[in-house]
Amino acid sequence: MSIEQRKLDHVRYALELNPSLNNGFSDLRFVHRALPDFDLADVTLATTLGGLSLSSPLLINAMTGGAGRTEEINRGLAEVAKRTGLAMAVGSQRAALKDPSLVRTYSVVREVNPNGIVIGNLGAGASVEDAQLAVDMIGANFLHLHLNAAQELTMPEGDRSFRGICDKIQGVVEGLSVPVIVKEVGNGMSTETYRKLADAGVKTVDVAGMGGTNFVSIENRRRAGLRFTEMEQEWGQTTAEALLEAQPHLFQFDLIGSGGVQTALDAAKCFALGANAVGIAGAILRPLMEHGVDTAVEIVEHWHEELRVILTLQECTSVLNLRERPLIVRGQTAEWGRLRGID
Ligand code: FNR
Repeated sequence: MSIEQRKLDHVRYALELNPSLNNGFSDLRFVHRALPDFDLADVTLATTLGGLSLSSPLLINAMTGGAGRTEEINRGLAEVAKRTGLAMAVGSQRAALKDPSLVRTYSVVREVNPNGIVIGNLGAGASVEDAQLAVDMIGANFLHLHLNAAQELTMPEGDRSFRGICDKIQGVVEGLSVPVIVKEVGNGMSTETYRKLADAGVKTVDVAGMGGTNFVSIENRRRAGLRFTEMEQEWGQTTAEALLEAQPHLFQFDLIGSGGVQTALDAAKCFALGANAVGIAGAILRPLMEHGVDTAVEIVEHWHEELRVILTLQECTSVLNLRERPLIVRGQTAEWGRLRGID
């Protein structure tokens, strides 16, 4: 199976499979405030992440590149990013490190959006040299290092060797010209993982929890023989749980909340749990592929408007203040927090 075919399979199955309803966000409720004493126009959506200022707290998460047709998808995503002020990540750039003819499928995002915030992406086993090549390939402002052990182990042709990965992450954090963001791909982070990442010097983490695009499901669709069926629905932490797990580490990291974020209200709940920014992948890919750039832009603009409304009704003028507001945690998510000693 070629890398190019795999990239196309991932897009196809991500669109075909519906996101799970179990993303934990419905367990979280804000406490309404009826007396906001300022104007909607006073609300700013600007935030900071890894030492950079972002005009929007939403970002388009890592998806694609590495096959001919993905150049058009990245072009569309970059147009949405440019028109809405969102930061944008490309998918894993390993394919272009192996085959330079594929560089265009990634660098198109910088061509379309010369002044935007762009994030490169490689697996966490990458060398410092490859990491720097990936950054230079697209003039990236950050590099994602993705943790996808569950995906690799359920992928027929996936990696089976992870030895030395923490030392490699530390090497890239120390040697790269731009800040590193370590991210999962949909199975979430735990306190144990945050601790190891802090020891490796990581300062920015994307929790990428369960409840949206599910790579165990995607790899199961790509398998010819027996599947990892039971693991599809329950392996990993939902985004709500992964953010709860982060609570003891908020002083160490800037956080991106992501994984199954389908609405502006989901995003607001991530900010209330301490996220500096929120990543969306499937929820922007789907409208882009089905209806085009204008519809995707309209959806992002509506999310911005909805976020301003939610902030006003929480008496907050900035997303970074939302973490000071109480959030009621119920159901399975509350139970998770209680059993893990984080309530
Ligand atoms: C992804 N994702 C991903 N992540 C990563 O770090 N490198 C990658 O190459 C890819 N590739 C990829 C392809 C496609 C088609 C999708 C939809 C997603 C994972 C992505 O960044 C994100 O972590 C998960 O999709 C969870 O977020 P959503 O989709 O639930 O918002």
